[in-house]
Amino acid sequence: MSNNNNCKTEVLLATASNIEKCANLLKNGDVVGMPTETVYGLACNALDETAIAKIFEVKGRPQDNPLIVHVASFEQVIPLVKTIPSITKTLADKFWGGPLTMIFEKSDIVPYSVTAGLDSVAIRIPAHPIAINLINQAGVPIAAPSANTSGKPSPTSAIHVLDDLAGKIPAILEGGECEYGLESTVIKIDDDSNITLLRPGAVTVEMLQEVVPNVSIDAGILEEINAVEYVISPGMKYLHYSPKTNVVVIDSNLEQFVDFIKKQADKSVGALVFTGEESKISVPSVSYGKESDHLLQAKMLFKALRAVDDLNVQTIYARLPKKNGVGLAIYNRLIKAAGFEIITLK
Ligand code: TXA
Ligand code: MG
Repeated sequence: MSNNNNCKTEVLLATASNIEKCANLLKNGDVVGMPTETVYGLACNALDETAIAKIFEVKGRPQDNPLIVHVASFEQVIPLVKTIPSITKTLADKFWGGPLTMIFEKSDIVPYSVTAGLDSVAIRIPAHPIAINLINQAGVPIAAPSANTSGKPSPTSAIHVLDDLAGKIPAILEGGECEYGLESTVIKIDDDSNITLLRPGAVTVEMLQEVVPNVSIDAGILEEINAVEYVISPGMKYLHYSPKTNVVVIDSNLEQFVDFIKKQADKSVGALVFTGEESKISVPSVSYGKESDHLLQAKMLFKALRAVDDLNVQTIYARLPKKNGVGLAIYNRLIKAAGFEIITLK
């Protein structure tokens, strides 16, 4: 390509020859859409500064927001980092390939353009066989942020990638709907007994606590006002996952929510509700999974956030999940989509 806005974007079935084609694009310094089990990534060679610059340009990503590097085996982590705390090996054995990203001290071969000037690098091994195949064939570590335009909901299908990036990248590998639908959990290792959760995901606090005695939660995750000052994971401070429609989250039970919506019904409003609640609501709605099923909510949330714009209303009021398990990650993404605008009715 290519980093102009006029290339043809091919959506390619993940056949052996198409994976090879994408691996060659990556080797030549191009960027391609890649399925993972969390969300689709916008992949490039993590050691190629020109390719990395394309990622930032294509996404419209702020320069101070570092990228995650994806590798296909634990051995491939070694050249990218200075030290490997022993707890990371234990965590990797349990959660890799899978939706966990760990922060390491970076080695000299990792460009500062990947880490946005930080001395640390975020690394994960995905579980998705197409991603693993692509990384292995490219033969290099792969930097990949979520393949959305910055600020929009992360893409959970190839169509979402095409909606955002058509004409800007040469190819997207089709891998179906993402299994989790929510970006990976990001953690920082403080020492072998202490880690800090920087972004919640499908690997939950409860799951991490089975391996590490102390898991602290970064204040930015639950903060209900935008606390830019103390975020340590730079990407978490931006308005994220946002539809064009104004989103406001309502912290309440269903009865209070229904009542609240009734009072707004003469305004241009819609609702983002749990599956099964649609008929109780007097305004147009989109649902994102049953209240009791956090994994399904994770899978449906970003698609639902893209769909709310089709309701053509000014404001969407959203039901909030409980904060346990994967619910914490959904809670975190929703309050960000709402720009931290929360109305508590309890
Ligand atoms: O599931 C995922 O993680 C997806 C797929 C494609 O792997 N990727 C993804 O990348 O969500 P992105 O760029 O959208 O989010 C990366 C997050 C950001 O919040 C960023 O600030 C944080 O990881 N991050 C990256 N490097 C970091 C570092 N060195 N220190 C702290 N946070 C870091
Ligand atoms: Mg992202």
